[in-house]
Amino acid sequence: MSNPIFDKTDQMLAAIKSASITSLEELETFRIKYLGSKNIIKPLFAEMRNVANEDKKEFGQRMNALKVAAEEVFHTNKSTLSQAASKASYDQLDLTAPPASQNIGSRHPVSLVMNRIINIFEKIGFAVEEEREIEDDWHNFTAMNTPEDHPARDMQDTFYLKNSVTNLLRTHTSSVQARVMTSTKPPIRIIAPGRVYRNETISARSHCQFHQVEGLYVDKNVSFADMKQTLLYFAREMYGPDTKIRLRPSYFPFTEPSAEMDVYWGLESEADYRITKGTGWLEILGCGMVDPNVLKNCNIDPEEYTGFAFGMGIERQAMLQYKIEDIRLLFENDVRFLKQFNSAY
Ligand code: PHE
Repeated sequence: MSNPIFDKTDQMLAAIKSASITSLEELETFRIKYLGSKNIIKPLFAEMRNVANEDKKEFGQRMNALKVAAEEVFHTNKSTLSQAASKASYDQLDLTAPPASQNIGSRHPVSLVMNRIINIFEKIGFAVEEEREIEDDWHNFTAMNTPEDHPARDMQDTFYLKNSVTNLLRTHTSSVQARVMTSTKPPIRIIAPGRVYRNETISARSHCQFHQVEGLYVDKNVSFADMKQTLLYFAREMYGPDTKIRLRPSYFPFTEPSAEMDVYWGLESEADYRITKGTGWLEILGCGMVDPNVLKNCNIDPEEYTGFAFGMGIERQAMLQYKIEDIRLLFENDVRFLKQFNSAY
């Protein structure tokens, strides 16, 4: 005997199997209708109590078949539709269309200048040494012959690490001299590029962080003339083959004698006057013969070895080269500023 409730499940099964699904929207409607939380299969379960006991088993099986059929129809259609969608987007692919433009990064002006300096010294056999920015008092000051009451150690000049009187942010790359000389036997011929820190008020001209390149050459019979010739070579590679230099006597605790090197910039425009303070000369670096005390501090015998060292700031050279008026621009990382520097390397 046919049960009228079985007719209902038959009809629903037929509806599920013959559902016409031609789009993802229709698929979603189908899913909500038969598989969603408020689907139309569920309410049929309520009919269970009207089903004769001997038919209850079959009714249960039929209900289950509805769910299985709905899931099958859903998954078959889903995979057909997604295959069609990807084929359609492939068919629409225009292989002749120009590629989307890419944003190529550019080197920071400080890196550009630093890389040039490194290249110039690498050509004459200087190796690059990179060292820590968090230094101890000994490498930054004591080894470099800077006595304990020297004003450079003042809290106003140096950033000390919290709860430490010995750890600090290096104030110059000269700390690398001490690192290298205590760990390597001469001959030593290195340059050390890197970031340094000083507790200074930030303005258009000075910043509390900047970059230096340090140079150190220690061997037997290294003379002041060797230093002068090396620096002249550097100046001519950097500023052009006719560049003139001059060395002015100066003072650094870690070199004796000490000098500052100027390059001739010219005095033609008003800007030249301003930049060179009316002299035509531009100060580029500090240098000198490594003080015998520094060699001793680093366990190198000053009777056997001599050396020269120099150190130069990078930001000022970058500002001159690219006509940048405010040092702060170099640290703000504004993309509009940075992308003006197209760089080959
Ligand atoms: N360390 C010095 C400075 O920061 C520069 C320097 C380096 C001078 C090496 C002499 C020798 O001003």
